[in-house]
Amino acid sequence: MSAKEQLNLDKLPQHVAIIMDGNGRWAQMHGQLRVYGHKSGVNSVRETAEAAAALGIKYLTLYAFSTENWNRPKDEVDALMELLVHTINSERETLNENNIRLATIGDTDSLPPRCQEGLAEAIAATSSNAGMTLILALSYSSRWEIVEATRRIAADVEAGKLKASEVNSDLFGTYLTTSKYPDPELLIRTSGEHRVSNFLLWQIAYAEFYFTETLWPDFGKEEFYQALLDFQQRERRFGKTSQQLIEQAIDNFFNNPSGSK
Ligand code: IPE
Ligand code: IPE
Ligand code: MG
Repeated sequence: MSAKEQLNLDKLPQHVAIIMDGNGRWAQMHGQLRVYGHKSGVNSVRETAEAAAALGIKYLTLYAFSTENWNRPKDEVDALMELLVHTINSERETLNENNIRLATIGDTDSLPPRCQEGLAEAIAATSSNAGMTLILALSYSSRWEIVEATRRIAADVEAGKLKASEVNSDLFGTYLTTSKYPDPELLIRTSGEHRVSNFLLWQIAYAEFYFTETLWPDFGKEEFYQALLDFQQRERRFGKTSQQLIEQAIDNFFNNPSGSK
């Protein structure tokens, strides 16, 4: 049976986040320049987004460009920005065909104007799609986001809109760029690196991690299903014991046998 056939469609994560890594090494392996790897990575983005949307996953967040990536050679940064403009234009049709709404997180004001315009157009053109929300993390880093949130909370306290004693975990979440989205339950990173690289530090507090050696341009639908299957085999305890979870499941079964909410 294929991984897709084995998936329990009632137990899919609502939100999957992916650190798309390994484009440069993939290009090098093929004797090409790094930018060739980034271009090839667009196919993996399309495949993964289509697969996620078709399954009914509500949110897919892709780490496309980090705050730290601005420190790469100028040629590569320019090529990535060019590719971004080109991709958001050329993929708009795919987004609409798959009922996908586009959104971004990150310091998008720091992107070149052409990128900002292209993004704004694509976001507007897909805003009525009610299937999946595809969130591109662009010029994003989690520390940047957390510091921004803290600054805005402090400003609201200073302005008397908020009391310091009202600041708690839920309120903090509302100041993050991801405030409209549930936390990702699954975080995937390709290319064999076992690190988070400043991505969604707050939001992945209880995410399951799936690491694969596959380089991003070789990632596709099949491995995405594999990651989801792996996720479905995990026991998510949230600090409780296995025994408590079993008791909770029995309780739920007897109090709500049909499984309806
Ligand atoms: C990920 O691939 C894409 C971006 C970070 C923009 P890399 O460009 O990091 O590829 P490697 O890790 O150098 O192989
Ligand atoms: C993380 O990949 C950022 C993105 C995928 C956009 P990097 O390649 O920049 O991460 P490090 O430098 O290996 O940690
Ligand atoms: Mg990398």
